[in-house]
Amino acid sequence: MALDAVPLLRNEALTALAAAGDDAALRAWHTAYLGRKDGRLTGILRTLGSLSIEDRKTVGAAATALTLELEAAFEAREQELRRSALARSIETGRVDVTLPARPHLQGGLHPVTQLLRKILDACRSMGFSIVEGPEVELDYYNFEALRIPQDHPARDMWDTFWIDERVAGQTPLLLRTQTSPMQIRFMEEHKPPIRIASPGRAYRFEATDTTHEWMMTQVEILAVDEGLNMGHLKGTLLDLFRRLFGPERRIRLQASYFPFVEPGAEVAMDCYVCNGVGTGCASCHGTGWIEMLGAGMVHPEILENMGIDSRKYTGFAAGMGLERLAMQYYGVPDIRWWYQNDLRLLSQF
Ligand code: PHE
Repeated sequence: MALDAVPLLRNEALTALAAAGDDAALRAWHTAYLGRKDGRLTGILRTLGSLSIEDRKTVGAAATALTLELEAAFEAREQELRRSALARSIETGRVDVTLPARPHLQGGLHPVTQLLRKILDACRSMGFSIVEGPEVELDYYNFEALRIPQDHPARDMWDTFWIDERVAGQTPLLLRTQTSPMQIRFMEEHKPPIRIASPGRAYRFEATDTTHEWMMTQVEILAVDEGLNMGHLKGTLLDLFRRLFGPERRIRLQASYFPFVEPGAEVAMDCYVCNGVGTGCASCHGTGWIEMLGAGMVHPEILENMGIDSRKYTGFAAGMGLERLAMQYYGVPDIRWWYQNDLRLLSQF
C-alpha cells in the first residue's frame, strides 16, 4: 500500500461529501468511506499488516485521525443539508400572514327552532316542565296505549314508517307519528299533579306537497290534576297563543276525534294578519281562522291504565305541529322549504 493512501483518500472523500446533495447520497457516502465492512478507510486499516512497523504506526494514526475528521465532516454536511431543505420548504410553502382572513359564516337557529323556543318559553312560564322522548318508538306507546289497537281504522290517521328490526318480546318499532306517546311514557313514571310540554320530531309516511312533509316538529302538552276541565284547556291554549301572536287573539274549539281524548277538539286561532276578518286574506285563505292543533280531555281509560284514579283526577292534552304554524308566522308559502337547507331562505330569519 502506498504511504500517501490516507491523504489521497481524504481529498477524494471530502470532494465527494461536498457533492452529496441529499439524504440518500449522504448515506451512500457514509457507507462508501466509513462503512465498517467495506468502507474505504476500513480497507486501509485492514492492509496495515503489509507495512513496516514504522509505517504502520504513521499510517494507522493518520487513518484514525481521518476517521474522526470524516465523521465530523459528515455530521456538518448533514446539518447543512437539513437547514437548506427547511429554508426551501419555508420559501415554497410561504403564507402571507398579512392577507385578511376568510370571512366566517355566521350560523343561526332554524326558524322552526326559534318558534319552538318561543312556545317552550311560554309553556315554562305557565308552569310546564319540558321533557323529551324517543323518535324511534314502540307500537305500544305510539298507538296501543293511546287506545289505537292493531287494525283499528283510526290508525289510518297516521301513515306510519315501520322499522324492520324488532325488540324481542315488544310490539313493533316505528318512527313515532306524534308526540302523544310521551303522555303514556310520562304517566307511567309520574303521578299527578302533572304539567309537561314535550317537544320533538314526528314522522308520517306522506306524499309531500306545499303543506305536507314526512317529518314535523310537534309540541305535546299534558296536564293531569284534580278538577281540570275543558275550561283549563281552553284558557291554557288561549294564553299560549296570546303570548305568541298578540293579546287580542281569540280561539275556537270544534269537536273532533282522537282516540286518546274525550271529548276531543280541533283548535283554531283567529288570523292575526287580518284579525279574523278573512275576506281577501292570504294568510288564512279568507276563512279568518288558522287551524292550530288537536286537543281534548285525557280519556279516563288511559288514566286508569296508568294507575291514576279517574274519579279523582282529570287531564287535558294538546298536540301541535310547528312547521305549518311557522309558515304562517314567518310568511313562508311552502312547507318543504324549511328543510331544503337553502341559505337564501334561512338566512332571512
Ligand atoms: N297527537 C295528535 C296528532 O298528532 C294531536 C293531539 C294531541 C290530539 C293531544 C289530542 C290530544 O294528530
